[in-house]
Amino acid sequence: MKVLVVGGGGREHALIYKIAQSSLVEQIYCAPGNPGIAELAECVHIGAEEIDALCEFAQAEKIDLTVVGPEVPLTMGIVDTFQAAGLEIFGPNKAAAQIEGSKGFSKDLMARYNIPTAAYRSFTEHTAAVAYIKEQGAPIVVKADGLAAGKGVFVAMSEEQAITAVDNIMLDKLFGSAGTSVVIEEFMEGEEASFFAFTDGKNILPLASSQDHKRVNDDDEGPNTGGMGAYSPAPVVTAELYGEIVETIVKPTIAGMAADGCPYSGILYVGLMIKDGRPRVVEYNARFGDPEAQPLLMRMKSDIVPVLQACARGELQQDSIDWHDKSAVCVVMASGGYPAPFEKGFPIKGLNEAAQMEDLMVFHAGTALKEGQIVNNGGRVLGVTGLGNTVKSAIDKAYAGVDKISWDGVHFRKDIGARALNR
Ligand code: AMP
Ligand code: GLY
Repeated sequence: MKVLVVGGGGREHALIYKIAQSSLVEQIYCAPGNPGIAELAECVHIGAEEIDALCEFAQAEKIDLTVVGPEVPLTMGIVDTFQAAGLEIFGPNKAAAQIEGSKGFSKDLMARYNIPTAAYRSFTEHTAAVAYIKEQGAPIVVKADGLAAGKGVFVAMSEEQAITAVDNIMLDKLFGSAGTSVVIEEFMEGEEASFFAFTDGKNILPLASSQDHKRVNDDDEGPNTGGMGAYSPAPVVTAELYGEIVETIVKPTIAGMAADGCPYSGILYVGLMIKDGRPRVVEYNARFGDPEAQPLLMRMKSDIVPVLQACARGELQQDSIDWHDKSAVCVVMASGGYPAPFEKGFPIKGLNEAAQMEDLMVFHAGTALKEGQIVNNGGRVLGVTGLGNTVKSAIDKAYAGVDKISWDGVHFRKDIGARALNR
């Protein structure tokens, strides 16, 4: 069969690495892809948000299955367009993708089905939002309702910070129409973890546990990023907690979406806050996490393609996934300055040496080919992912890979996996 993967980051490289292992697959295309992906798939010059062009391509090439990586095409309705054209596609449709695309939608869903999360209120009026902040006090969390490329959440330690956030979102329109409405919620303390489940809209197939490191610097300091590293399994998610997450969060979410006439199929990403062994939802995403996908997919033993097809067809029967009994750790190598503006175009050295290492994959994210050289071209550039029999050996493997690679200004955290090690 022929598979098309939409996107061009580390998550899509990891998906293609896994899809390429399937005996069912003859050819993989990726739109737009990146130079690392080009070693496994044919990259097509169509952007991930050019839905009509992607659909025409899939029809012309008779693609059997399309897999969508990022959230923006999902919230734009790529699944609806493909399905209307009779094409098989993995991911939620536009209505279901609101679970990530609108914070108000997801908070209302959780309230309706008693899914544990922070207390909240939604506002469309600036003065009412400010009054609520004054009434609640700080710390408090302010969120733009719509998609804001991961920048729409303000964890405010003072009332002033919270009010400034509301001013930025509602008055200055920092995120355009994504800020027409804001969610203001209780600040939750605890440790974050990521939880993923495949679903066909009715049945669920949960994945192994994982955690990412969101802050840019060691010891979880500095601004939030898309993720500077990740690992699987995550020791904070004990077997008991895993069961509780499935029963009290994942199942009622999928059942609730179906009951509301908005069935969710694809992969559900639940961002969790864990405190005293109890999970609460921070947010949902309508897609695989990045970088979490990188360690998870390196650990996955089962063929992923039948799972993706079953989800797309509404026929998910499989009730477990086989995992390699190893730990996986991904260290993100980023451009110096990220998440603030940074310089691009520096040649990356050492990729060939790292490629020769066993139990190591260098997934590409923001790379580009310039005059025959692979250069940095985005914030998060590479995800160096190692496997090991223990967390410690997986960390050592990933950093042994990182040590071989360099470019001007490269930045990476030196403590990825430390939280898992200290447990
Ligand atoms: P989100 O985009 O909703 O994942 O939020 C980004 C980050 O903000 C999360 O990963 C958390 O670190 C933090 N965050 C969001 N909501 C809360 C909350 N209610 N309490 C504490 N931290 C939060
Ligand atoms: N690692 C966080 C995300 O994918 O949103």
